[in-house]
Amino acid sequence: SINPTNLLTSSYEKIVNVAHRGASAYAPEHTLISYQMGEKMNGNYIEIDLQMTSDGHLITMHDERVDRTTNGTGLVKNMTLKEIKQLDAGSWFNEKYPHYAKNEYEHIQVPTLEEVFKEFGQDANYYIETKSPTVYPGMEEKLLKLLEKYNLTGVNGQPSYVILQSFSTESLKKIHVLNEHIPLIQLLPDSSPEMTDLQLASIKKYSIGVGPSFKRIDQKYIEKVRERGLQIHPYTINTREDMKKALKWGVNGIFTNHPDLFHEVLKNV
Ligand code: G3P
Ligand code: CA
Repeated sequence: SINPTNLLTSSYEKIVNVAHRGASAYAPEHTLISYQMGEKMNGNYIEIDLQMTSDGHLITMHDERVDRTTNGTGLVKNMTLKEIKQLDAGSWFNEKYPHYAKNEYEHIQVPTLEEVFKEFGQDANYYIETKSPTVYPGMEEKLLKLLEKYNLTGVNGQPSYVILQSFSTESLKKIHVLNEHIPLIQLLPDSSPEMTDLQLASIKKYSIGVGPSFKRIDQKYIEKVRERGLQIHPYTINTREDMKKALKWGVNGIFTNHPDLFHEVLKNV
């Protein structure tokens, strides 16, 4: 059975259900439709990966190239926003996942981060990743400016409107210097071995926790992280069985393409 004390954490009270790339099992990832679906399916956070266009606009996309998730080809950093906006970011999904295909997914656009904030404002929470920050100098400053414009920073509530995440320690430290109030999560790559005490202590200086691959962790790992006062949000958990296991082990939240399923699992705990 699941230990109920695991359901309360010291600084962020509830277990967070992060809609990974939106409800990306059911709709084309990183589109407004996918994010809306994540909200409807009771995700607590919309997970967003950031890339930046050649004319300096932050857009929501996982890959540095547009090839996988649009009908275009090339690197985002070499394309203007106007060029990005001409791409079809939905038809690929219908072809790849006929079971979940919908006509409305055809010809949808790649959103800018600003369009996402305009759509959801303070009615949603955002879990935003600075992707490839070395490819995009200035990405952090632009992100913080946009967060300020939409009143998503400052003294954060429970839960905070925004959590920022990155595999890049440098990017997180930079953000921490710019605004020390925004909760940060240090992502850890698939290849990352168990953290040493020294590494955990160093992560704690700028972040509230870690985001490891679920494949790399077990109960002992989670206990070690939490005993040192850090939270743990593993990615990406998509089956009921693994969700239950993660809860039993004591995670503080998870990234999932199926926020509806995790909501159901949480209700039955
Ligand atoms: O941000 C958590 C998880 O999404 C990290 O992996 O490659 O899906 O961004 P990735
Ligand atoms: Ca991500």
